Amino acid sequence: METTSDVRPAPRVKRIYNFSPGPAMLPEPVLEQAQEDLWSLGDTGIGILEHSHRGAAFAAVLADAEARCRRLAGLGDEWAVLFLQGGATLQFAMVPMNFLSPGTTADYLHTGAWTRKAIAYARAYGDVHLAFDGESCAFDHVPEPAEIALSAEPVYAWYCSNNTIAGTQYPSPPEVAAPLICDASSDVFGRPLPVAGHAMVIAGAQKNLGPAGCTLVLARRDFLERARRDLPPILDYRQHDAKGSCLNTPPAFAIHVMGLVFRWLEEQGGLEAMARRNAAKAQLIYDAIDRSGGFYRAVARPGSRSSMNVTFRTPSADLDARFADEALAHDMSGLKGHRSVGGLRASIYNAFPPSGCRTLADFMDDFAARHG
Ligand SMILES: Cc1ncc(COP(=O)(O)O)c(C=O)c1O
Repeated sequence: METTSDVRPAPRVKRIYNFSPGPAMLPEPVLEQAQEDLWSLGDTGIGILEHSHRGAAFAAVLADAEARCRRLAGLGDEWAVLFLQGGATLQFAMVPMNFLSPGTTADYLHTGAWTRKAIAYARAYGDVHLAFDGESCAFDHVPEPAEIALSAEPVYAWYCSNNTIAGTQYPSPPEVAAPLICDASSDVFGRPLPVAGHAMVIAGAQKNLGPAGCTLVLARRDFLERARRDLPPILDYRQHDAKGSCLNTPPAFAIHVMGLVFRWLEEQGGLEAMARRNAAKAQLIYDAIDRSGGFYRAVARPGSRSSMNVTFRTPSADLDARFADEALAHDMSGLKGHRSVGGLRASIYNAFPPSGCRTLADFMDDFAARHG
């Protein structure tokens, strides 16, 4: 039989600055390690895509990813760490399915397109109260404490820590007297995760954590005890917890890459270091907006500006389109705003390099000088 010992990673190819909102850039050391592991995970002679999820090699991958996740987020045994499928969108349904029932109310802080979707899903299971409704201000900010009005006895309060489309982010979690559930899909592990006060944190992987196909769910085990008991096991968090995320075949490759990203995050100095780096990266672009003399307008109000998705506009939709096209010609892709809102958006998640933000800021100065 031919051996695979002479297989080598492909030569490095040209890569450009990818400002995609997700799936998004991954750290290059992670890509290199994943590439090797496709051929053989450690010295097993079997690639990560080919290992049984019931074998010792994958068990070690899963245990390592979970341990690193717990260290990064500071989670003790009172927390379940689950690697699920179905994207963040399945969580929009699974959370109310488990915790909301006719006659009970869940509160939602409505800050954009992703909370709108979560709200629509929840309405199928019980009453929904909008503890904040950002529709009237076109989602240009996240609520101040005084803007939040909870219902009498919510079974949980849902918020989205970073609004990927609007480009707004909570500076800190809302303080509410209800079990708090966070959709952290687009800023998870981009800064320290203040789990205190939360019942659950859910996050699709494909922005800050790894490839699409795995959803990270952190849940307090005492909160999970409140879930209804008559759901099929695949929709029941406690069953996933009892089976260590292997109730059925887990998304093994996505979990492995997530584990590599967790290792990379630890090597970068952890979440405090990522927060400093991400704030500095975003500031480079916000500074270019603010020094443009009104040529660029930021979508988010100061105080709600996201460090992950910087949203802005030029004076016209035509110039927005021209900006995105010219940027692409300069090896910067993915700068068009979401199709529902238009404008421009620079998504600069953890793995996006500071040099890309500097390159974009310089391009913005030049574009404004030529078209202002
Ligand atoms: C904040 C937020 N929540 C949820 C989703 C939906 O994630 P998924 O496509 O994994 O279901 C997205 C996708 O971009 C998102 O940005």
